[in-house]
Parts: sequence; structure tokens; C-alpha cells
Amino acid sequence: MCGIVGYIGENDSKEILLKGLERLEYRGYDSAGIALHTDEGVTVLKEKGRIADLRKVVDSSLLSKAGIGHTRWATHGIPDQKNAHPHQSTSGRFSLVHNGVIENYHHLQRDYLQNVSMKSDTDTEVIVQLVEKFVEDGLTTEMAFSHTLSLLHGSYAIAMLDAEEADIIFVAKNKSPLLLGVGENFNVVVSDAMAMLQVTNQFVELHDKEMVLVRKEAVTIKTLDGTQIERAPYTAELDMSDIEKGMYPHYMLKEIEEQPNVVRKILQAYENEKGELAIDAEILQAVNYADRLYIIAAGTSYHAGLVGKYYFEKITGIPVEVHISSEFGYNMPLLSKKPLFLFITQSGETADSRQVLVKTKALGYPTITVTNVAGSTLSREADYTLLLHAGPEIAVASTKAYTAQVAVLALFAYVAAKDSGKTVDFDLKKELGIVANAIQTLVDSKEEMEKIAHEFLEVSRNAFYIGRNLDFYVSLEGALKLKEISYIQAEGFAGGELKHGTIALIEEGTPVFSLVTQKAVSLNIRGNVKEVVARGANPCILSMEGMEEEGDRYVLPKVHPYLTPLVAIIPLQLISYYAALQRDCDVDKPRNLAKSVTVE
Ligand code: F6R
Repeated sequence: MCGIVGYIGENDSKEILLKGLERLEYRGYDSAGIALHTDEGVTVLKEKGRIADLRKVVDSSLLSKAGIGHTRWATHGIPDQKNAHPHQSTSGRFSLVHNGVIENYHHLQRDYLQNVSMKSDTDTEVIVQLVEKFVEDGLTTEMAFSHTLSLLHGSYAIAMLDAEEADIIFVAKNKSPLLLGVGENFNVVVSDAMAMLQVTNQFVELHDKEMVLVRKEAVTIKTLDGTQIERAPYTAELDMSDIEKGMYPHYMLKEIEEQPNVVRKILQAYENEKGELAIDAEILQAVNYADRLYIIAAGTSYHAGLVGKYYFEKITGIPVEVHISSEFGYNMPLLSKKPLFLFITQSGETADSRQVLVKTKALGYPTITVTNVAGSTLSREADYTLLLHAGPEIAVASTKAYTAQVAVLALFAYVAAKDSGKTVDFDLKKELGIVANAIQTLVDSKEEMEKIAHEFLEVSRNAFYIGRNLDFYVSLEGALKLKEISYIQAEGFAGGELKHGTIALIEEGTPVFSLVTQKAVSLNIRGNVKEVVARGANPCILSMEGMEEEGDRYVLPKVHPYLTPLVAIIPLQLISYYAALQRDCDVDKPRNLAKSVTVE
């Protein structure tokens, strides 16, 4: 949610900033801008729209050795040029980019900036105007910056240029992600390491309420009270090939096709030297001590959490509740005596989930984050982390992270059950191997999914997804995938629930995708399909081998009944992908969305 870059060094900063912003575009793409120190002072260029639009207005002859940049997901103020970052102070001396939300910006404006006429509708502008005001009152830029930070309530990752100090980028962080990248005679600032991998793989973490003076030879990290902090860099374990599209037309297709390998990687990553599936002993102890698990997540991760509940309850016998993070923190249910909190988050940065983590930690409860991003905020702040090993997910719509979440949750429940001495009557390692092959078969049949998208979704304005038991959870995820990238209104339902109201929306030709992978309820779901067909629906039945019937549109390769979500979701991802292509939608960057939602 908003991406920030900064560069100071020997090279021309412009291209480094623009490349970095292109890699951060998944964080928002409402507008983009850069501010560059040049021989004539600071030049600010910004445009509504994508980085490609910004590039068009950047003069290639402009030379600069220091600059900052921003790609925006609008919160305060509509996506237009005046609200695009960088924002400048009235005199133009200070230019600033910001990711986050300043909750008290109205009060700050009223208390300090009554005589300043604001140029934008954003919360961000108060920051840069406050710095200018305090400098005019007699403070140095560093003092004015730190004083301003001490007045801010909310979340921020900030980079600022002072036209009169060309050798420094002023940087600060609170709650929103921000890293320093370090190199020989240059340093960078970035919201996500992968956006600066082309210049360095050495990064330094920043903690909340820290500010930094970034110079080309050194970075000086300080707390707001001025205490200097030394922190060693770490090496980002990322490969350029992980973050490039290669021959694929879209990241989403690349990431869908990576899923067989993701499952295999997870098996390797969680294998001990005896070749058995294993998880850190302290994590297992925490699970086996708990009397109830609380899974907290948002969006796709919430859907994976629903499947996780099934696994923990069926395999370990521990009761589980799954909650939407944005609700849980402000309407906490009665908790059990020994709760254990499990945060499921691909990015590890989702603000809604993080506020629950902060609250549950304050109450003293143990916490585990299941995430794809080592070193992310929720990973650092929870007591324990389980990694997804899915590799960077760049398309805004989550695909491989979902399958990784489901696979890791299955593995977690399985290992926890064995650790506590429960009898588990299947070999998960073998079954996940079968799943990886089944996913490969599905990916190899993508032309068939393209045909299905064509047959069922070319002209429809809505679609329904139904299933029972585990298939219900996959229906929710299938519907989310379709609506977020194709803008076709889609809803997932428990098969038995549709007739309690929503069946009123079924008309002649309404597509209803129906999953039939669960033997115990296969007759029931087929009954539900008949109900909608009787009202004119166009049914697309995806059934599992061994449960198929004449008229089913696609038969999924057979896997263990617990693991069907890992295969049933693949055709739904592919169908959504092709439906979006059919409608000329921007598959990797759907409108109004951002991948990492770092505001509540
Ligand atoms: C949908 C999608 C979102 C995320 C949600 C939570 O395709 O990606 O629904 O799942 O924003 O994000 P994380 O998992 O990063 O906490």
C-alpha cells in the first residue's frame, strides 16, 4: 500500500528510482512521482496513473545523484496529480513521500498550520509543511524533522529531501514497512527489498519510531530522542529470476504455474535430517499447550485459514476459531483460558492483522505468524514464524501464497498431531507429493480452463460458486479471484445456503461453478446444483475423480480428501485469469487494489 524508494550515491538516481517504483507498483498504482536533487535544486515530477505515465514526463537528460519516489494507493484525497507524492512545502524547499496514514493530521493543521494554504487533500502534506514551519521557527532540518515525527499519530514510512542539503535523505518509519539498502558509495531506501535488488542485496531493518540520515557513504539511525543505533545489514535471500516475469505474459500466470513446485519446496523446507516432516519444537509446544487456536487473517489468507481450522480440528482435535482481522481487534470474542494466535498473512504487513497482533501481545498471549516474507513486520513481532516458501508473489491477486498457506497449515496440523501422540492414518508427505503432481496436471490443462472461461463467463455479469464442507471454503476463494481481477460480481456460498435467499438472483444462464470433491456431501451438493438448474442456471460442475457423473464439466485428479482445496482452487484461478483476459482487464494490477494493505 504505497511504495517508497530513495537513492543517494554516485550514479544517476532517476533510472534506479523508476525501476524500483516499477517493482513496487503492486503496492498501489493510482499515481506516481519522484523528486530529484539536481544542479538547479529539487525537481518534482508526478502524474496520475502508473509508472509508465510518470516515465513519459521524466526528461531523460535530467541528472541527479539523489532522489526519492512514490507509487500511491489513495487513502486521503482522490487519485489525481495534486494528491500524488512527493508533496512539497510552500516554499518548495522540502519534498516528501509517505506511506501510511496520519490520524491526527486535522489537529496538526489546526494547531500549527492555520496560515498555510494546503495544496492537496492528503494527510501527508501536513508533515512536509510542519518541517518547513519548524525550520522557519529556527530549528535545523534534522531537528524539525524529528520534532515533526514526535507529533504524528498513525503509521508512516517517510523519505524527505531538503533542497538546501543535497547530501542527505531524511527517512523515518513507524508501523509502515521500510528498509535501508546499503552499498559501496551509495545507499537506498525502499518499502520492499525486491525493488532494489538490482543495486544491492544488503539491507538494514528499521524499527518503529526510528529516523535515519541517509548519505551516500553512511546511514545514521537514531531514535526520536536522538540515541544513535548500530544495526548490521542482512543479505536478502532473493533471486532476480524470482521477481521477473520471464516469458510469461503476466505474473499471475507465472505464479499459478509455480504451484506444483511451491508444494514440493514446502516439503523440502519442513523436512528434518531423517526425512520426516518437522516443525520447530517450541512452536509445537505452544500448540499442544493451547486449549484453542485463533486464526486471524484477511481476504485470501482468511479463506486459507478456514481450511486450516478444518485441519487442526480434524487432525489434532484442537478447537479453532477463524476471524477476519479487521473485525477481531475491535470486537474481540470471549477467549478461552489458553489461547494461541495464528496470523496468516502472505505479505506479513497487513495492518488489519497487525493491530490484532499488537493487542493480543499486549494481553500476553502467544503468537505465531504464517507468512511468505521473512523479516516482515508480523514475522518480526510474533513469537514464532512459519514461512510459506512460495517465493515472491507479485500479481496482486494471490494464488501460490494461498496454496502454500493451505499446504503449510496441513503440515503444521499433521506434525502437531503426531508430536502429541495422536494417531494419524495417512502419510502427508506422500499425499502432498500426489497433490503436486495433480496441480501440474491441472496447470497443463490450462487451455481447457480458457475454454470454460469462454463458455461460462464471456457475457455474464455475475457468477456463483457453491460447495459444501471444504469445497465451501474453496468456493469463497474462487469467487474472490474472479471478482477481483475480472470485475464480474461473484459470490461463494455453502451449497445448502443458496436457497435461503440468494437463489432469487439465479436467472436464465447464470453461471454456477459447483465443486464436488467431498464424498460425504456429494449427493447434497448435486441436489443443490439441481435446484439452481431448475431456475435456469448454467452449471459448471468440477468433480473429483471417482465422484464424477455424466455432464460434469471437468474432472479433477484424485487426491486425499483433506487436500482437495489445493487442487480444486487451481482451475478456479485459471478460469478467473482467462475471464479477466477476455475482458481486457489488467490482470496483475486490478483496479482499486494493492497487494500489501498497510492501512486499517
Ligand atoms: C486477494 C488477496 C487479498 C489478501 C489480503 C491479505 O487475492 O491477495 O485478499 O489475501 O489482502 O493479505 P496478506 O495475506 O498479505 O495479509
